[in-house]
Amino acid sequence: EKGTYPHYMLKEIDEQPLVIRNIISKYQDENGEVTLDDEIRHAMNAADRIYIIAAGTSYHAGLVGKQLIETIAKKPVETHIASEFLYNMPLISNNPLFIFISQSGETADSRGVLVNVKKLGHPALTITNVPGSTLSREADFTLHTVAGPEIAVASTKAYTAQMAVLALLAVDTAKAQGIAVEFDAIKELSIVATVMEALCDQKEALEKVARDYLSTTRNCFFIGRASDYYVGLEGALKLKEISYIQAEGFAGGELKHGTIALIEEGTPVIALATQEHVNLSIRGNVKEVAARGANPCIISLEGLNSENDQFIIPKVHDYLTPLVAVIPLQLIAYYASLHRGCDVDKPRNLAKSVTVE
Ligand code: M6R
Repeated sequence: EKGTYPHYMLKEIDEQPLVIRNIISKYQDENGEVTLDDEIRHAMNAADRIYIIAAGTSYHAGLVGKQLIETIAKKPVETHIASEFLYNMPLISNNPLFIFISQSGETADSRGVLVNVKKLGHPALTITNVPGSTLSREADFTLHTVAGPEIAVASTKAYTAQMAVLALLAVDTAKAQGIAVEFDAIKELSIVATVMEALCDQKEALEKVARDYLSTTRNCFFIGRASDYYVGLEGALKLKEISYIQAEGFAGGELKHGTIALIEEGTPVIALATQEHVNLSIRGNVKEVAARGANPCIISLEGLNSENDQFIIPKVHDYLTPLVAVIPLQLIAYYASLHRGCDVDKPRNLAKSVTVE
């Protein structure tokens, strides 16, 4: 039930700190070490390449998951859109492991891939919020995201939960391979939960951003580099699905290859700056769009911020910035939808789980 909340989406955004804490308790042992299932660890170890398959928001979590597993566990990963993989399958390695990410566990596009993968005899792991779901039953292994029921069509807490579980999977895999892991995932995720709380307390400021930038616009662009690009894709999806504003996420460096032609006087451009190694270059991109009339809104991480940034996120570990950077984007999308009189929880033309291909 949504209790005193006006919408499920807002309730689910606010639940994210608790969800992260639940994931920590579920996946740590009595010594405070990350521990997943032995069979999953074995399957991850045995694989020469991981293929992540998902749709929509879960695909965006998969993009971050690729970065986490490659960086922490040094295993090559490819992330694919399920509906594309179905009809345009890449060359598969000798010992692949397929990871399906799905909130509902019922997405037909992902299930289509799973059926093919099982026919080929490859192992599959499903990361889902619904353990009894089709994708969970038909895969060899399941990791539960323990986010609790997600009712709003726009996925919020399931996305951050998926990324948290992927971070733990990366750490567990690294340790099993004897790779020294400097990153204390349990500690860093609890910092994430605290920062999420602080961000959820900033609703007024984020409502103002939505009002100032998005009340009447017909389009909005999100730009970022590295993981900020992936978070920008997710911010754009949130905004388009519930506010009907045409929103797109772009890689900062790609602007000059075409996209910058779309910038007009007053076009809102939301720029993410949470990664030190790309901070200067994304700020360069902001200057380029501003010089062409855009109305930039910079969301940055504390320590990388400049004085005039519109919103500053408290610091978290570099690997985990997507889990916190998305929260202002979720809240901005929520308020844009509200201000524009849209149906926040049940946007037009969309279903919560997409069970047709
Ligand atoms: O249940 P799934 O995670 O498999 O669903 C995938 C997408 O349909 C879903 O993430 C969709 O994009 C959301 N409405 C986005 O908010």
